[in-house]
Amino acid sequence: MCILAACVFLGVLLLLAPSQCLACPFGCECFAITRTVKCVSKDLLVVPQNIPGYTRSVVITGNNIHQVGPDSFTELQNVTNVILSNNRITELASHTFAGLTSLRSLDLSGNQLALIHPEALSIPGSPLQELNLSHSLHNFTALTDLATALRWGGLWGLRRLDLSGNLLALLPPGMFSHIPSLQQLLLRNNSLVAVYAGTFSGMDHLETLDLTHNNFEAFRVDALQELERLGNAQIFLGYNPYTCSCESRDFVTWLNKTRARVDADAVRCASPEALADTRLQGLTVQAIGCVVPVLAEVADLTLQTSYVFLGLVLGFVGMVFLFVLYLNRNGMKKWIIETRDACRDVLEGYHYRYEIDSDPRLGHIAAGGSRSQRHLGKEPSQQLPNDTCIVQASTETQVKPVATSPAVNS
Ligand SMILES: *[C@@H]1O[C@H](CO)[C@@H](O)[C@H](O)[C@H]1NC(C)=O
Ligand SMILES: *[C@@H]1O[C@H](CO)[C@@H](O)[C@H](O)[C@H]1NC(C)=O
Ligand SMILES: *[C@@H]1O[C@H](CO)[C@@H](O)[C@H](O)[C@H]1NC(C)=O
Ligand SMILES: *[C@@H]1O[C@H](CO)[C@@H](O)[C@H](O)[C@H]1NC(C)=O
Ligand SMILES: *[C@@H]1O[C@H](CO)[C@@H](O)[C@H](O)[C@H]1NC(C)=O
Repeated sequence: MCILAACVFLGVLLLLAPSQCLACPFGCECFAITRTVKCVSKDLLVVPQNIPGYTRSVVITGNNIHQVGPDSFTELQNVTNVILSNNRITELASHTFAGLTSLRSLDLSGNQLALIHPEALSIPGSPLQELNLSHSLHNFTALTDLATALRWGGLWGLRRLDLSGNLLALLPPGMFSHIPSLQQLLLRNNSLVAVYAGTFSGMDHLETLDLTHNNFEAFRVDALQELERLGNAQIFLGYNPYTCSCESRDFVTWLNKTRARVDADAVRCASPEALADTRLQGLTVQAIGCVVPVLAEVADLTLQTSYVFLGLVLGFVGMVFLFVLYLNRNGMKKWIIETRDACRDVLEGYHYRYEIDSDPRLGHIAAGGSRSQRHLGKEPSQQLPNDTCIVQASTETQVKPVATSPAVNS
């Protein structure tokens, strides 16, 4: 009834309406003035055929079309825009859009693409300028499929690519290097944690890069070099859970001086608590806890101080020692004299014994003495007064009696 009403309405408006209404596919609405065909939420299972030749825009959304292939779009050389969002499409076959030789904008958002043929996006003449794949990739396999399709698709004219909301955690290196004309790359609302050297290689005309609402905590040096290579592009980095610790130092320095246009006001700390919601740009190294050089200075100072302290302590100990010696000077003198006297007494005693031993006439006395000493198992030195200054003397003196005694006995 509605379609009929629409036809009557159009027929009233346009004299040539009836023939076009008849040409409108089942379940769709055809708008000749705007050259648009809309097939919205009609539970269609396939892309409808017989879309009028005047059509420029095809809007097929909210249906149940699982697979699209080259048969889906034929004789539609005049179509420039195709919106296929939210159709539960899972598979893109080879050369699906090859018949759409004027296609400039393709929207595949909100699907569940699991299988993308390497040449799914190939269109003779490379007319495509805009590709919307937001919320459309089923999993990582689909992403690698897409990377291949971007490589083989001959998308020389593509200027805008929307890959937002795909839970992407990482991007294959050089994924966009075969899209040389790309000006806008939208990667917002994914799960990206890092940019690597080569992630954005070959993108010489990029004007806008949207990395907001991802999982970046900081950008390392190679990531910053990669971003710096984009020249003076507009780079959106806001709404990421940045950690404002010393690890972010390079990032803050880069934000301070880059020639890229960055949404610095939205680049704010998520942690630590003390810096939450603070802008990263303009933070000082002290603020983000980089105290490394300061620490080194302190350590240096500590070392110097400890040397000085050690010197003072040694000096003090030396002075105390000298002072004690000075106080004891009388006792010391006495001790030295006593020791000297003791040594002299002992030496004299030895001298006496030595003379007895070496005197042949008194040999029997010494031999008897040394024999009895040996018999008792005692070393001669043990018989001597226990004083260091005579040990030397005792060994000297003992050698001779032992050497001479047998000679005397035999
Ligand atoms: C495309 O449009 C041109 C002119 O508007 C028309 O002559 C031609 O027939 C159209 N192509 C198709 C397939 O209808
Ligand atoms: C892509 O599609 C989504 C959802 O339909 C829309 O919100 C977004 O604006 C589109 N992207 C572009 C670049 O038009
Ligand atoms: C992605 O999904 C497809 C289809 O469900 C499945 O065959 C494939 O193993 C999945 N890949 C990963 C990495 O989970
Ligand atoms: C971000 O992506 C997730 C999952 O793809 C989705 O559920 C959520 O609605 C998206 N948020 C925005 C603001 O687009
Ligand atoms: C960033 O710039 C501010 C002032 O412009 C400066 O105080 C701060 O030290 C700089 N931070 C870094 C990490 O270079």
